Amino acid sequence: MSETEQATVATPSTSTNRRQPFPQGFLDTISEGWAARPDSTPPARDQAPFAARRRDAVSQAFPGQRIVVPAGGLKQRSNDTDYPFRAHSAFSHLTGWGADAEPDSLLVFEPNADGHDMTLYFRERADRATTEFYSDASIGEFWIGPRPALAGVAADLGIATAHIDDFAVGDDDRVAGVDDELTRFVSELRLVKDEYEIAQLRAAVEVTARGFDDILRELPAIVAHPRGERVVESVFHRRARTDGNWEGYDTIAASGPHACYLHWTRNDGAVVPGDLMLVDAGVELESLYTADITRTIPVNGRFTDVQRRVYETVREAADAAFAVARPGIRFREVHAAAMDVIARRTAEWGVLPVTAEEALDADAGGQHRRYMVHGTSHHLGIDVHDCAQARREMYYDGVLEPGMVFTIEPGLYFQIDDLTVPEEYRGIGVRIEDDVLVTADGVENLSAAMPRTADEIEAWIERLSA
Ligand code: GLY
Ligand code: MN
Repeated sequence: MSETEQATVATPSTSTNRRQPFPQGFLDTISEGWAARPDSTPPARDQAPFAARRRDAVSQAFPGQRIVVPAGGLKQRSNDTDYPFRAHSAFSHLTGWGADAEPDSLLVFEPNADGHDMTLYFRERADRATTEFYSDASIGEFWIGPRPALAGVAADLGIATAHIDDFAVGDDDRVAGVDDELTRFVSELRLVKDEYEIAQLRAAVEVTARGFDDILRELPAIVAHPRGERVVESVFHRRARTDGNWEGYDTIAASGPHACYLHWTRNDGAVVPGDLMLVDAGVELESLYTADITRTIPVNGRFTDVQRRVYETVREAADAAFAVARPGIRFREVHAAAMDVIARRTAEWGVLPVTAEEALDADAGGQHRRYMVHGTSHHLGIDVHDCAQARREMYYDGVLEPGMVFTIEPGLYFQIDDLTVPEEYRGIGVRIEDDVLVTADGVENLSAAMPRTADEIEAWIERLSA
């Protein structure tokens, strides 16, 4: 398909040589003969009242200030092909507009005597009398299907709407109004999830669990293909697209030594019986909330002794993190609990050049980090690494509160060419990642329904892929 006639603001045409002029007969008739489209005003979606509360929090934190939160625009992939659009997470959080958000929209807070007037500006659907309707490949309904109207979105999201052209020309400086303070505020606003967010995260985890079951069911086909890791990725993608919106991040399908590369997303290797395979994947729902789960499985269905030793040590580290996680402790203490196990076990195995105590020394130690270089936990929500702009004292040094959702994901990774470890460990990478909700007195494992111990993993494979 090629765009014709008219370039759009977001993706200028680069294919002028392919433009075909429209003959007069087409131009004379194209705007006529269409049934009227009544403005539908749906009931407000579930997240509307929650988003309204978040906007109120922003309004109260920034009295008298004009605030503009942009959705962001389409990003050109090549010529008239764009990357899939995903609205900025802060914009989605404050509007409740998820996968269906319109590119180039703006949420505007205009100060008034009591707080702010809040308006969502976007380019509503073009009238069929416009050239945009039939000739604009980015936003024309002839090309991309029905687009939203102002009244419909106002009812759906429970917010006043206006056409983007009514956001006064010359106000561009106001769009630059998303400053560091606001970015930090909206990131910290997301640290404690509301009821709607928790329900979405539960649902995202549930769909993700189904995606992992799909992978196990397809294990014979995965092993049979020379790029089995790609088969894993595509099986999970099918579940993500059919039951959700997309993956919340690129799937890591890492077999054998690839499991030691923390963000292995090339996924172009074979899945070999006798190796472990690490799969780190999460489904993002239409609301944009995502799960983030990792399971590591023996491809042939049975852990070897050394694979099981490493696996159960990672599980022990995860269990230690679960045991300390509760309101009132600091986020970093969850990590410390897991790292304590990692240091002690690697010291026991003779892998560390120092004692566990020496390795755990905050200043002089850290030798065990060679085998688990990443953190144990990160907040989870609309972004897989949620709340990333929160201040350190609110995040890493912050105190856990009920309603926070984060991962517990220790691992052990012995790279294939790491001469510091006995040969039998080399090429083994294990991570176990669960998503947890802080409750009144501990944490709830949202992914508890998924097999987790070595024995459970073996039984899972037998049940689904035998
Ligand atoms: N799931 C990828 C990560 O947490 O970095
Ligand atoms: Mn993670």
